[in-house]
Amino acid sequence: MLVKFGALIALLPLVAAQCCVSDLPFGYTFSAPTDWVSGEPASLTWTASIGDPTQFAIILNIYNQTTQQADQWVLANYVESCACYASFTLPDVPPASGYDLIPSVTT
Ligand SMILES: *[C@@H]1O[C@H](CO)[C@@H](O)[C@H](O)[C@H]1NC(C)=O
Repeated sequence: MLVKFGALIALLPLVAAQCCVSDLPFGYTFSAPTDWVSGEPASLTWTASIGDPTQFAIILNIYNQTTQQADQWVLANYVESCACYASFTLPDVPPASGYDLIPSVTT
């Protein structure tokens, strides 16, 4: 389940939620983040699905057109799926459109 962000200088606002990516074996649905600011505290809520692991990691992802590679930051690790809530400090990320939230295995 991906959540797309739009472009803005400091904020990382949600533009649209996109549905499942087939190669991710997860059923998490993230709520739409609002007013996320690079380098500032933020929180996120979600729902988990039957079959999701008890713990997971939340990854901030963007495809970098310059390097032609995905840039990723771990927002939270060893998050309890059933908590359905996590708070963390956002990394300092460049202003850009197309940020995704990706659930991942704990690393
Ligand atoms: C893409 O990579 C370049 C080179 O590392 C970096 O300067 C730029 O900030 C990156 N852009 C995004 C949107 O991550």
